[in-house]
Amino acid sequence: MKDVMRVGIIGGGLMGREAASAFARWFVLERFPVRVELVAVCDLQDTLLDWFRQIPTVRLLTKDHRELLASPDVDVVYVAVPHHLHESIYLEVLAAGKDLLAEKPFGIDLAAARRIRDAATTSGRFVRCSSEFPFLPGAQRVIDIARSGKLGRLLEIHSCFWHASDLDPSKPVNWKRQVKFCGEIGVMGDLGMHVVHIPLRLGWNPARVYAQLQKVYTERPDGKGGFAACDTWDNAQLHCDLEVSGSTVPMRLEMKRLAPGATNTWWVEVLGTEGGARYSTAEPKTLWIFERQKEQRWIRIDLGFQTPFPTITGGIFEPGFPDCFLQMWAAYAAERAGALDGRFGCVTPDEAVRSHELFAAGLESHRTRAAVTV
Ligand SMILES: NC(=O)c1ccc[n+]([C@@H]2O[C@H](COP(=O)([O-])OP(=O)(O)OC[C@H]3O[C@@H](n4cnc5c(N)ncnc54)[C@H](O)[C@@H]3O)[C@@H](O)[C@H]2O)c1
Repeated sequence: MKDVMRVGIIGGGLMGREAASAFARWFVLERFPVRVELVAVCDLQDTLLDWFRQIPTVRLLTKDHRELLASPDVDVVYVAVPHHLHESIYLEVLAAGKDLLAEKPFGIDLAAARRIRDAATTSGRFVRCSSEFPFLPGAQRVIDIARSGKLGRLLEIHSCFWHASDLDPSKPVNWKRQVKFCGEIGVMGDLGMHVVHIPLRLGWNPARVYAQLQKVYTERPDGKGGFAACDTWDNAQLHCDLEVSGSTVPMRLEMKRLAPGATNTWWVEVLGTEGGARYSTAEPKTLWIFERQKEQRWIRIDLGFQTPFPTITGGIFEPGFPDCFLQMWAAYAAERAGALDGRFGCVTPDEAVRSHELFAAGLESHRTRAAVTV
């Protein structure tokens, strides 16, 4: 008999439904110790609640998240709501005695992140934060290479997440473009967890940061014939110093909503004097490895489906977003069950707080036009 992890979702929008899709194909995971069941969903919109009616295991559909939290059927809650609601709902999840997979960011700012982390510690519940791209096969290979000790002296690191649809000024406003819902950190809160997860897990904690933040479009159509203010940062470039083995190593983190031509392009590059690796979701099968021997060469490898948690999917097939999202959930369920077995895990509360320390330092750096100690 496998353990059953019974999940409730608060926020059934874009990501809430993506989670439901991951649970619906859970059986593709091979020899996995945990079964998952989506049992309850909360959203404010009737059309979204109706969408979840097609999932036979869902027993509770509600517009009141307190009703979901009161349900003894729910073990784990996935919260995917606008950022200004993260802290209050995460704290209520913990107070209700449930485990939590929090969507990023971990609260709207640093103070909120610290309060959530402290409540998670006090509660003893299993809490992790969402970031799925490191679970792609190409990203896993970059992590392995970075950990292999074969890079020589570390030269530099790039970790970037680029969007482009905001280049269209006629794209209507939504809550992600307004500080009161998205937070003062703007695009850093929206895309930042995705770029810091691997560096922080590898021990690359920025010592200093110089931030360049850009607001480009300050209003957008409100969908009602008028315009609404957009006051969040659109693009953020964080130029960081790492102290590694007595040397200062540059690390550039980029979070962009205005990156020409980039559709959800997440990429990471690690360069050393002896070796390096680069992976981008723009070429989901392609891993680039640098080797310095008698001659220097970049080697292109056509990857297959070597995910951290094996599935029935053929080893030569291509992975995509729904696959890494399922793998992230598998990592959450495995770690919660004590079965991670040394594999890469989801973002911890301490890492989430460190991400916010960096973003807060980024805001200060931009304000003062100076490098700021993190
Ligand atoms: N991991 C990723 O790749 C990824 C991608 C996109 C968004 N996100 C994150 O997921 C979260 C949600 O983003 P989204 O794109 O799904 O947004 P969305 O707007 O599509 O969905 C949010 C949902 O929350 C519901 N909601 C609002 N207030 C609520 C309340 N009090 N109770 C219950 N439901 C409520 C809304 O009705 C909406 O359906 C955010 O934190 C965002 O940063 C993560």
